[in-house]
Amino acid sequence: MRASKGPRGIIGSLGRDNNRCGAAAESAGHQDVEWKSVEMSGNDKAADEGQASVSGAGFSPWRLSVAPMMDWTDRHCRYLHRLITRHALLYTEMVTTGALLHGDQPRHLDFNAEEHPVALQLGGSEPADLAACAKLAERWGYDEVNLNCGCPSERVQKGAFGACLMAEPSLVADCVKAMRDATSLPVTVKHRIGIDKIERYEFVRDFVGTVAAAGCEVFIVHARNAWLQGLSPKENREIPPLRYEVVAQLKRDFPQLTIAVNGGLKTADEIADQLDRVDGVMIGREAYHEPWSMAEWDSRFFGAADPAGSREQVEAAWLDYLDRLHASGRSWPHAMRHALGLWNGTPGARRWRQVWSDHRLKTLPPREVAAQATAARLSGMTLAA
Ligand SMILES: Cc1cc2nc3c(=O)[nH]c(=O)nc-3n(C[C@H](O)[C@H](O)[C@H](O)COP(=O)(O)O)c2cc1C
Repeated sequence: MRASKGPRGIIGSLGRDNNRCGAAAESAGHQDVEWKSVEMSGNDKAADEGQASVSGAGFSPWRLSVAPMMDWTDRHCRYLHRLITRHALLYTEMVTTGALLHGDQPRHLDFNAEEHPVALQLGGSEPADLAACAKLAERWGYDEVNLNCGCPSERVQKGAFGACLMAEPSLVADCVKAMRDATSLPVTVKHRIGIDKIERYEFVRDFVGTVAAAGCEVFIVHARNAWLQGLSPKENREIPPLRYEVVAQLKRDFPQLTIAVNGGLKTADEIADQLDRVDGVMIGREAYHEPWSMAEWDSRFFGAADPAGSREQVEAAWLDYLDRLHASGRSWPHAMRHALGLWNGTPGARRWRQVWSDHRLKTLPPREVAAQATAARLSGMTLAA
């Protein structure tokens, strides 16, 4: 599986949860409008360096991943996450087939070579369009292409994709088949355990069975129903209750498939507990809001002997990245918003965050802001002591 292509030696928030996974569907990645590669595109660099494997030997590429999150998991965010975990699989925000086929492809698809392994998530329901986009994903150097069958946003439903596709398993099967015919990348599906009030296990079992028959071997299952009406996507990430046992049952019924669970998981112990039952765990909000929670992943879940380093080292590498953005005339605060949680849970973290969030400082070189932020953090530490 090519998702084990990977980063070669990396150093090694608090964004808004704005009620959508797809409201920005047509503009996925548009925040990066002005942003091209800091160095070279992931595609070129991956090709230059060959596709060395980084995943811990013998581990499923889906063992641990960071979820696709619209407006959040852009290339800057993924770069930060990769500084903290070398092995977790990183997903892009969802990009619609329409945006890709008719929009600015580099703007949507470019990524930093360091992000590998990285998966492109697509939103769409037209097999030919999805096939064309899967080809693009391969050309750009992604490690996987994932189809979104889990987003409940109304706007996404109008486009007839996302979670409402769970009601049409044979269409999803057609989509998967078309994508598989178009690319040799793994084609995976992210979905819910049901839609609306349909809570019968047979519904999700038959969905998985039909899509698996079309060749999909990997399913990432958000363990709660999607409600297509009456809840905002944000509310639908808390309601109705999670039912992890449904995902475990899928694994028992389809032992040959890779089944990963998603939804509401936070701690390493919770992850370990799920890994006793299923093949993988996908973490969304906790990874974003508390990025340092990922620091123990590599050693605990991939047997890595060389964890990311200290928070200071990660911050230094991140600062290098911000410097490169700034030096090439790009604005750094858009990237920095993803790192505001880096020091969470330590004395002085709030002061550090306040400095980085200060609008008056946003035109300064990032290093100057960093000096002020560190001074504020250390003085906050002294006060707390
Ligand atoms: C801000 C935000 C944006 C999201 N965007 C997407 C998306 O583009 N595609 C998708 O499949 N899921 C999206 N999701 C759902 C997450 O991938 C994940 O399924 C959900 O947050 C539950 O996992 P968690 O409890 O670990 O956060 C989004 C979630 C959030 C918070």
